[in-house]
Amino acid sequence: MRIVSTLFVAFSAAVVLTSCGAGGDNQGTEYAPNMYHSVAYEPYSQITDEDAGRWLTSIDYPDGHAEFYNSNKFNPYRMNMRESAPHTVARNKHGWLPYRLGKDSLAFAAANVKSPLDSTAAIIADGKVLYETYCDHCHGPKGKGDGKVAAGGIKVEVNGEQKERSIYAGVANLTSDALKGVSEGHIFHVITMGKGLMWSHGSQISPEDRWKIAKYVKTLQK
Ligand code: HEC
Repeated sequence: MRIVSTLFVAFSAAVVLTSCGAGGDNQGTEYAPNMYHSVAYEPYSQITDEDAGRWLTSIDYPDGHAEFYNSNKFNPYRMNMRESAPHTVARNKHGWLPYRLGKDSLAFAAANVKSPLDSTAAIIADGKVLYETYCDHCHGPKGKGDGKVAAGGIKVEVNGEQKERSIYAGVANLTSDALKGVSEGHIFHVITMGKGLMWSHGSQISPEDRWKIAKYVKTLQK
């Protein structure tokens, strides 16, 4: 009896130790491998060895490969995901092309770039939420240029007098006469590229959301 249990322990130890030999392309001994290896094509990982999983296969694959093989033999390097054609330009889910006007094209954008969105209540409501997230702290809840960051809080003493100084100087009042009439294209361009003291928000806010904000800013300017 003792011999049997010694043998059992030794055998188990051998199995456990040999299972640990994973490395590189070798995944080691796996329990229930079907749970790890997708038979379907996967874009980022593929098994190119046509014999991988041969001893497990209970299915006859039409082109003669074994269970785990999941590459696409028609693509370069047997990749499952194809690289896009050279010079391909990505469109977003609405089919819009990337915005490509340069920072110095504000006047052109203001005159020519039109909002692709309709002025529905839902879009303006979205615009409000986005404005409150990205603009409010500088431009203020009503666009008066008196957001928390702009309107100060820092008290400084100038010639014995207590004065409040703004943290971010020069924030524009969006409801001023000078800005009241600007087009949505103008606002979109400023959000995307920044202007003067205002930094670009193009990398933080998607084009669709920028247009929504522009719509909302127009309602503040009324
Ligand atoms: C960090 C503070 C800050 C944030 C955040 C900010 N702005 Fe500004 N914004 C400014 C400042 C400062 C100016 C004045 C720029 C100048 O003329 O130098 C300005 C100017 C503008 C102008 C006027 C541009 C013109 O033609 O003179 C618009 C429109 C504008 N911002 C819209 C927005 C919108 C919409 C958002 C939110 C996506 C936003 N800003 C976020 C600081 C900010």
